[in-house]
Amino acid sequence: MTTHSAAGNADYRDRGLVFPAGFTFGSATASYQVEGAATEDGRGPSIWDSFSRTPGKVWNGDTGDIACDHYHRWEADLDLMAELGLGAYRFSIAWPRVIPAGTGAVNPAGLDFYSRLVDGLLERGIRPVATLYHWDLPQPLEDAGGWPARATADAFERYAEVVGGALGDRVHTWTTLNEPWCSAYLGYGQGGHAPGRHEPAAALTAVHHLNLAHGRAIQALRATSTGDPEYSVTLNFHVARGRGDRADEAVRRVDALTNRAFTGPMLRGAYPADLLEDTASVTDWAFVADGDLATIAQPLDVLGVNYYSTVTVQMWDGVSPKQQHDGHKAAPRGTAWPGSDGVLEFLEPPGPYTAMGWNIAPEGLEELLVSLRGQFPDQPLMVTENGAAFDDVVEGDGSVRDAERLDYLRRHFTAAHRALARGVDLRGYFVWSLLDNFEWGYGYAKRFGIVRVDFDTLERTVKDSGAWYAQLARTGVLPD
Ligand code: FCB
Repeated sequence: MTTHSAAGNADYRDRGLVFPAGFTFGSATASYQVEGAATEDGRGPSIWDSFSRTPGKVWNGDTGDIACDHYHRWEADLDLMAELGLGAYRFSIAWPRVIPAGTGAVNPAGLDFYSRLVDGLLERGIRPVATLYHWDLPQPLEDAGGWPARATADAFERYAEVVGGALGDRVHTWTTLNEPWCSAYLGYGQGGHAPGRHEPAAALTAVHHLNLAHGRAIQALRATSTGDPEYSVTLNFHVARGRGDRADEAVRRVDALTNRAFTGPMLRGAYPADLLEDTASVTDWAFVADGDLATIAQPLDVLGVNYYSTVTVQMWDGVSPKQQHDGHKAAPRGTAWPGSDGVLEFLEPPGPYTAMGWNIAPEGLEELLVSLRGQFPDQPLMVTENGAAFDDVVEGDGSVRDAERLDYLRRHFTAAHRALARGVDLRGYFVWSLLDNFEWGYGYAKRFGIVRVDFDTLERTVKDSGAWYAQLARTGVLPD
């Protein structure tokens, strides 16, 4: 590997960086955010269908009913990925397409869609990286209790068996869950995500059942996949900056609740003692049954890392107005911080910021990757999401000169390269997102795509950042 790491260059715009041969350059999407066709071919309702129809939950009342219409336009979208020279596509499978009620009958038409998609990727030389759960829980499972109910993990195991049996001969990488932190804390604690509940104890129960679902799904996928896939999970790590005279304590609390609540059981086979202590006023964790931790701790071929920005936190001093950190999503009401609500205070991080209001901090990505290597020395890593929303302008000739997004990506790829140069076993990088899409509580107001989608005509236009990324993917050399 050739490296030209300009150590000490704080602006993260190193020149002439060459990525290792075999490094994967991909892009990512998620079913509810791009597919549309919400009621077609037997798809059942998900919690995001219900949530987006609830007044006041999603900006402008937007829903994923049509989204990017990827369900019908997938072939053209795959052609586009091939034109861009992308080596892998990280997509998610909609559970309510495959098992519309969450349990019970399998819907062959739903499986067929993903089977065609996987074949289409392989025909174009693009590796299929399939996520089983990117937040679209079948509504009947929520009606029966959702992730705080242990039966949801049972249902997920069966879903994994079905999908493994149908696609496990061809999928390159299986990812069980996307960002279970969001599913648990934003879905059941803070309420800015579906199903929009505000129950701190339920959020922690959901954490455990998501972890359990992950372990069970890995076992089920291994048992049913006849190919030789890799196994992974994607977590959204919080990189926290402490302030005040108890800065270390603040950072430790954030790390326990967000990062180690998942890496603990998944990679070490135990919940961290400090997490149990911090949350003792909320729950006694009696929902952790004998044998669960052994089930959860499955070896992973690769750990997926999503990174966008950092958080700045201090212990609440009881004087300044407490800001409720919203997990980078829609306006909060409940808490995403069970056991630390009223204890942790989130401060505005230093800018610059993206259109989401998220701070741009490429050094946080380098630091995170190096820290994960320190904690889990033998665990290969993959950046499974990184990217930025900006308010794009369409020029008279139809082009989108998204210099800020391009610059964001360039700095974060530089950060990843610096981590590689420091010995991190980083296997690849997926840009979020291929397409502008339904950005959860923000609806269609926030655009993350390297390809523009006109939501009136559904026409796709490669942005400058997309052309830049294509050059990187083709050559492995970071363009200036
Ligand atoms: C992540 C989600 C993804 C997208 C990006 C911007 O938290 O996994 O679906 O919303 O944020």
